[in-house]
This record gives sequence, structure tokens and C-alpha cells, in this order.
Amino acid sequence: MKVKNTHFRTIWPDAADNTIIRIIDQRLLPHRFVIEELRTLDDFCRAIRDMHVRGAGLIGATAGFAMYAAALAAPAAEAEADSYFRESAQRLVATRPTARNLAWAVERQLATIGRLKDRQDRIRTSLQVACRIADEDASFCQQIGEHGLKLIAAISRKKGGKPVNILTHCNAGWLAFVDYGSATAPIYAAHQAGIRVHVYVDETRPWLQGARLTAWELREEGVPHTLIADNTGGHLMQHGMVDMVIVGTDRTTSTGDVANKIGTYLKALAARDNNIPFYVALPSSTFDWEIEDGLRQIPIEERSGDEVNYVSGLSADNRLETVLVPPAGTRSLNFGFDVTPARLVTALITERGVVAASRKEILRMFPEKNKIKGS
Ligand code: MRU
Repeated sequence: MKVKNTHFRTIWPDAADNTIIRIIDQRLLPHRFVIEELRTLDDFCRAIRDMHVRGAGLIGATAGFAMYAAALAAPAAEAEADSYFRESAQRLVATRPTARNLAWAVERQLATIGRLKDRQDRIRTSLQVACRIADEDASFCQQIGEHGLKLIAAISRKKGGKPVNILTHCNAGWLAFVDYGSATAPIYAAHQAGIRVHVYVDETRPWLQGARLTAWELREEGVPHTLIADNTGGHLMQHGMVDMVIVGTDRTTSTGDVANKIGTYLKALAARDNNIPFYVALPSSTFDWEIEDGLRQIPIEERSGDEVNYVSGLSADNRLETVLVPPAGTRSLNFGFDVTPARLVTALITERGVVAASRKEILRMFPEKNKIKGS
């Protein structure tokens, strides 16, 4: 997508030296646009854990390149290299537990590099796999956009061309993936097709992905939007100001339960109470085919309470500042995600099309997954 009219992806190998991987440091957005270099496995683990990069798809793509960094640093002997890769994989997977794409990308790399005996082969192949994961992520998100566009177009027709009001939570935009985004891809596609859309952006406490990232993305793309405090959505829905909700997901069970940024569940409840369609957009890399009960089986990340107690922003004299909000020493609780049960999800928007959030329909769309868990 565009930043000041220049096209960027969120992660890419340096053109002159492909042992360096470049990312946009999302901690500093929207006020500073800083590109960071990642070289070592430590760099990658820190970037994922401390959220220089974040969002399910981008975490997965970053993990793919991290395994390439591991291949560059691994010992030449096959047995030692193998245990080095396994340790690297474990370290990576531990950085952020909820997003399925992380383990998915690491497993994909292990399955490929594990078969190779020669060091140069492992390096070359792991870079190819990492680039393929990134390219696929971008292309899947673009396809999600095309499928989701039809849903927005249908509402637009019903409204006689008046703006379609879409509420979104957190950032499931291009910054959360390699390009396009999941929840935002249909919005960008509709906007480009000339359909009038307007987005209500939940600010998304505590890390403020909505206020900091989604609002910035939409502004760069020229999509009309309004920032709202997290608690506003229900009121807007009761007053007919929201036509549809589209959110992303970090892990989706084979039965259609979705784990997404904390607060998503409350929006799904409010949408159901007001008869508003609630869509969840995801590339198939976000499915966890092994689990069926999101509430019991999806690991929910708990992050530092400092993210709740402190807020950061731009001071009047243009400095980035972090300030304490509650009384010093206040204990806070910071769960990163919650689970929205499939029964509250109108449909999933995937790269293959729009599908009901039920095991039967999901497996009909992804028949090759039928063999998993013998369904
Ligand atoms: O903690 P984050 O920012 O990595 O959380 C991810 C998210 O941005 C959302 O939950 C998003 O809606 C799904 S990720 C595509």
C-alpha cells in the first residue's frame, strides 16, 4: 500500500544485501516512519515480541524470514544445524502465543529445511520459502479484498449508493500483513471501485492499533473514516449508524471460533443484538485446523500492564512522549485477545470466498483439510 504515494510492503529483503531484512517499526507510527534492519534471530524475536511488527500475517511472514536468519547462522554440520533450527523455532514460537501464523510459518520452514543436507541449500531454500510466504500473504489478502468487496457492494446497492458505514476493531490492515490487510482489503477494494464507504475505527486500547495504525492507513489511502473510543460502537449500532462490522483474526478454529484483539467479542455481541452483519476476514494461514473449541483451546497472550497504564503520543513541540495515566503503582491486567464464538460470526471472508463459520462449511471450502482430525 502507499505511504506518501510510494508503495511499501511491511517486510522485504534489502535489495543490495539480502541477508538484511527490512521492516517498518510500527511502535513509532503514525508520527515517525522508520525503517529498521533485522539481521539476527535475536533481532527477529525482539521485533515480534516487542511489536515492532505485529498482526497475524506479518508476524508469520517475519517468522519465515527469521528462520532464514537462523539458516544463515546455523552450524554447517547437518545434525547440529537441525537442533539449531529446532531451538530457533521454539524461541520464535514463544514470542507471541496467540497468532497461528507464527507457528504455521515456522513449521513450514522446518518441514522444508529439515530435509536439506547442504548449508548453502538450506540458506537458499529458506529465503525462497520466506519470500513465498510473504508473497502468498499479500496475494491471499488481495483475494480477500475481491470477495469482501461483493458484500460491501450489496449493502451499497441496498442503500442506493449512500456511504456504507463499516466498523472495524484493532488493525487488520496492510500493516498487520505483508500488504492489503484482511479486514481492510474489502474496504480498499470497494473504495477503489468507487463505492462510497466510511469506516468507524475503534481506537483499540491499550496499544491503540486502531488510533495509531488503522487511522493512518486509511488516511494514506484516502478512505473516509472516523476514530471512536472503544466503548462507542454499541451506541452507534443502536442508532443505525453501522451497516456492517469487519474485523480480522489471529487464530480461527476449524469450527469458526475466532480469537481477535481484546474487545472484539463485545462488538460481536452488540452487532448480534442490533442485527448487523459481523464478518471476520482471514487468510487460511490463520486457521488452526487442530482445534475445535476456541474458548478452551486458543492460548491468550497476556502482556505487560505497562501497556494499560502508559500512553504514548506526540507532544505540542513534536516529541514522542510516554505518560502515566493511573496513580503510580496501579495494578493492571492486559489480555491481548478474546474469543468470539462462531455463533456470533455472520461469515468468514477467506482467499477462497465467503464461508459460514461452521466446521461443515469451512471444510467444504478447504476439503484438503478433511484428513486432519479425521473429520
Ligand atoms: O497484538 P496485535 O496488534 O499483533 O494484534 C493483531 C491485530 O491487529 C488484530 O487482532 C487483528 O485484528 C488481527 S491480526 C490480522
